[in-house]
Amino acid sequence: MTAQIIDGTAFAARLRARIAAHVAKLATQGITPGLAVVLLGEDPASQVYVRSKGRMTREVGMASFEHRLPADTPQDALLALIAQLNADPAVNGILVQLPLPAGLDEAAVINAIAPEKDVDGFHILNVGRLATGQKAMVPCTPLGCLMLLRDHLGSLAGLNAVVIGRSNIVGKPMAQLLLRDSATVTIAHSRTSDLPDLCRRADILVAAVGRPNFVTGDWIRPGATVIDVGINRTEAGLVGDVDRASALQVAGALTPVPGGVGPMTIACLLANTLTATARANG
Ligand code: GUN
Repeated sequence: MTAQIIDGTAFAARLRARIAAHVAKLATQGITPGLAVVLLGEDPASQVYVRSKGRMTREVGMASFEHRLPADTPQDALLALIAQLNADPAVNGILVQLPLPAGLDEAAVINAIAPEKDVDGFHILNVGRLATGQKAMVPCTPLGCLMLLRDHLGSLAGLNAVVIGRSNIVGKPMAQLLLRDSATVTIAHSRTSDLPDLCRRADILVAAVGRPNFVTGDWIRPGATVIDVGINRTEAGLVGDVDRASALQVAGALTPVPGGVGPMTIACLLANTLTATARANG
């Protein structure tokens, strides 16, 4: 058996085209959605992400505001910038690129963002809303994974889902989204016992551990849908958390790296910015 490859690049392009059409409609009402991205320091990977976020924001017709600050920016100055963006009616979405340089209080910074402009869905109010089934801003990477899963599987009700990774950015919100769609969800992590055996019970396996080629084909239930969230830079180039060659022999479907979840994350960021704009206007 050879798994179907889930084409995140194509799905994300279709999503961005739909977003661009909405943005064009808003323009006739004099509304331009605006996304502000704040980057502290010179981390090369973060710089690449922020550049492509800016480019894709402009491509769908939204306004992009980039704020690049030195790594030693004091917390007060960062909070003052966030307060200014919160008050700016041209800014509908605010994203502070993580991780922050050492010395800054990540929770305080995230929770200073107005919840209705929190397009990352990391504010404690949005986390709580998602967990309690209220209308929330949903984190972009898990939202992108959910869209691919729904597109591929239809209903997720009753399926066994295993999420490897318990981060606030991916693992925990991914589990909440799968639960909201009535999957039976297990969150696995570095202390989970007999992880391969647990994974073999999964109809849906989401790998978000940040370890290259961590999940191998013998961990995968035949026919399972495998979502690879990993983006690991290795000497062999960019690889996921799933060992592609062995996974392809067993899985029913697999998201590739690159070209799977990655492009969905930015498309979902634009979708969240559009949602924030729609809520702000009405
Ligand atoms: N760093 C890695 N992923 C993300 C993300 O989704 N949002 C932000 N703000 N920073 C990140």
